[in-house]
Formats: sequence, C-alpha cells, structure tokens
Amino acid sequence: MLHLKLETDPRWVNIVESNIEEILTDHAWCEQKAATNAISIITLNSEYPDLVTDLLELAKEELEHFQMVHDIIKKRGYKLGRERKDSYVNELYKFMNNGGNRLQRMVDRLLFSAMIEARSCERFKLLSKEINDPELSKFYHDLMISEAGHYTTFINFARKYGKGVDVDKRWNALVEFESEVIKNYGKSETIHG
Ligand SMILES: [Fe+2]
Ligand SMILES: [Fe+2]
Repeated sequence: MLHLKLETDPRWVNIVESNIEEILTDHAWCEQKAATNAISIITLNSEYPDLVTDLLELAKEELEHFQMVHDIIKKRGYKLGRERKDSYVNELYKFMNNGGNRLQRMVDRLLFSAMIEARSCERFKLLSKEINDPELSKFYHDLMISEAGHYTTFINFARKYGKGVDVDKRWNALVEFESEVIKNYGKSETIHG
C-alpha cells in the first residue's frame, strides 16, 4: 500500500542491532520531529477544522511514541542522547516547492509528511520482522500500524484539499525523488539512516 520504489536492504537491521542505544535515541527524536511537523502544518493551515482535529490527534500520538521510546531507553539503563539530525529528511525537504501558491505548498508539505511516514513504516516493518529482540520486535510492529495510519491521514488531506493540483502526479514525482535519496542510505543505525 505504501508504493515505495526501493526496499531497505535487510542487512541494515544488523547495523541497528550493533548499537541499540543509538537507534533508540535517533528514533526518539524522529517522534519529536513528527509531532513538531504536525503542529507546524496546523499553524500554517488553521482554517481547515478537520485537518486541525486529525493532526492534533496525530501530534498527540507522536508525542506518545516519543514517550514510549524514552521509557524503553530508561528501562534499559540508557540515556536519551542529544537531538540527532536527520539528513534523509533534510534531503527530502528539498523536494518541496517553496514558490507556488499556498495550496500547492500545503499539498507538498502533506505529501512530504506522508512520505516520511511511509518510509518509517517500511523501516519499522523490517525491524519488527528481523530484529533479534522480542520487546523491540513487538514495539516496532505496533508502531508500524500507527505510522501507516498517519501516512493515510496525510495523503487523504492532500487529495481532499488539493483542488486544482495534480496530487497524484506530484506524489509520483516524490516517490521517484525519494528513491534517488534513499539509495545512499541503509548504512547506519538511525531510523532513516
Ligand atoms: Fe510516530
Ligand atoms: Fe507518524
């Protein structure tokens, strides 16, 4: 359902397993960024009551995910490290057309968000299947389902409000762009690394 062009090499999971503390720290900050992103979209598009309602809910879920990751970090005697940069997301950000009208910018921001959910979902699915750690396997399975729902939320709002924008064409272009970006990843113990 996610229509990504490239799947992650399963050997990425071995890299993750070599440094669980690092993946958990990176993951925690991914959830923080997801919550922050949802709040930014609300701030920029406050006149759509259903979008505000659903993204408030989504932001709450991302904060809950942040808290769940932090709980695992504490339980395992680790410490939440400093905020990690996400170079995959920063590269993806360049796809967005910051010219264009406000509606086009909203559609792009929603599609950008849907794409990050889709890739995160793919990574969580792989982790849940391959990681040699029953607690994290179950955890990533549950998160995969939640992030798949977020993907649907973002893409549905892009289609609903993108009147006059060829949303499918834009999405296909993003899928193509993302496949070029992700080619260079899968080599480090971060969620999008
Ligand atoms: Fe999340
Ligand atoms: Fe999400």
